[in-house]
Amino acid sequence: MGTGYTETQLRAAVADAVRAPSLHNTQPWRFRLRDGGIELSVDPARRLPATDPSGWGTRIAGGAALFNLRLSLAVAGTPATVRLRPYPADPDVLARLVPELPRRPTPTEQSLYAAIPRRFSNRAPFWPDPVPADARWRLGEAARAEQCWLELVIGVSAVNAFAEVARSAHRVLERDPAYRAERADWIRTEPAPDGVPARAGGPQNEPQDLLPSRGFGGLDRAPGRDFEPEPLVAVLGATGNTVVDQVLAGQALQRVLLTATDAGLAVSLLSQPIEVSGAREALRLSLGRFGTPQMVMRIGYGQPGVATPRRGVDEVLDVAVTQR
Ligand SMILES: Cc1cc2nc3c(=O)[nH]c(=O)nc-3n(C[C@H](O)[C@H](O)[C@H](O)COP(=O)(O)O)c2cc1C
Repeated sequence: MGTGYTETQLRAAVADAVRAPSLHNTQPWRFRLRDGGIELSVDPARRLPATDPSGWGTRIAGGAALFNLRLSLAVAGTPATVRLRPYPADPDVLARLVPELPRRPTPTEQSLYAAIPRRFSNRAPFWPDPVPADARWRLGEAARAEQCWLELVIGVSAVNAFAEVARSAHRVLERDPAYRAERADWIRTEPAPDGVPARAGGPQNEPQDLLPSRGFGGLDRAPGRDFEPEPLVAVLGATGNTVVDQVLAGQALQRVLLTATDAGLAVSLLSQPIEVSGAREALRLSLGRFGTPQMVMRIGYGQPGVATPRRGVDEVLDVAVTQR
């Protein structure tokens, strides 16, 4: 075992970490090597003040990046021990990773790792084919492996009740001009290293749609290509809603997303009912679960698509600091 991670290991792992999802593809993360440990922080300059006033979204994204970081290090043979929020005085540092004894990666780590570059948010309509029971089970296991839970919303009336909550949260958000302006600022019609490319934004909302889409792209919808009538909706939750719970939820989210990708499934994220506190509480009560919903996903079989751009590793690395 070496005494710490090297810059080469850091750079390789960060290239994988940045493939994580983030609100409007803001990529609100920074990485650095300090005393042989890799540290992951939120980048407060990349928080969306109107969409994400509490910083929840930066911590979910940070947790998702952390999961990729762990996976990348493990597959390279140098797995990490992780301490979440290692410095109480510096809450922006979400995690510190130090090397464990080297070992060979497990088959699960290898298959989840291989899914990193293939995962993307698929906002288009899915095929009507149901998600098989074994895949549903694997998705739940993925959340549990990261100390979170995944509740599938089953049955037409439960899905309709969820959709009502989601649509009303969407309407609340849409009434805020600052929220709309923020979204418009992050839609990209030209090649860019961040933001949501308009081509990836999915079709415009139409009156017959059950679930509200965030409205990034506004692509015209081909006739007869409505959304699936009975979407598989899954709610990811943590035992609470502290900063650490949110980072755990981000890791669980990424594990669920990579597990879905590995199973040939497509996913889009739907966080309006998480962002509006009344809707989040209604969702929590409807599920009858302890803990706090942290993300909602629509899961199914989608058409192929491509990953969205990211900033380069140099853009997200801070220079090494050896003393604190
Ligand atoms: C906390 C969080 C909330 C998100 N909420 C939504 C959402 O409500 N609607 C949506 O279409 N995408 C949502 N996304 C997905 C991001 O827009 C997406 O991850 C980002 O644009 C990068 O694209 P990719 O997932 O294809 O890599 C969310 C992502 C995160 C991490």
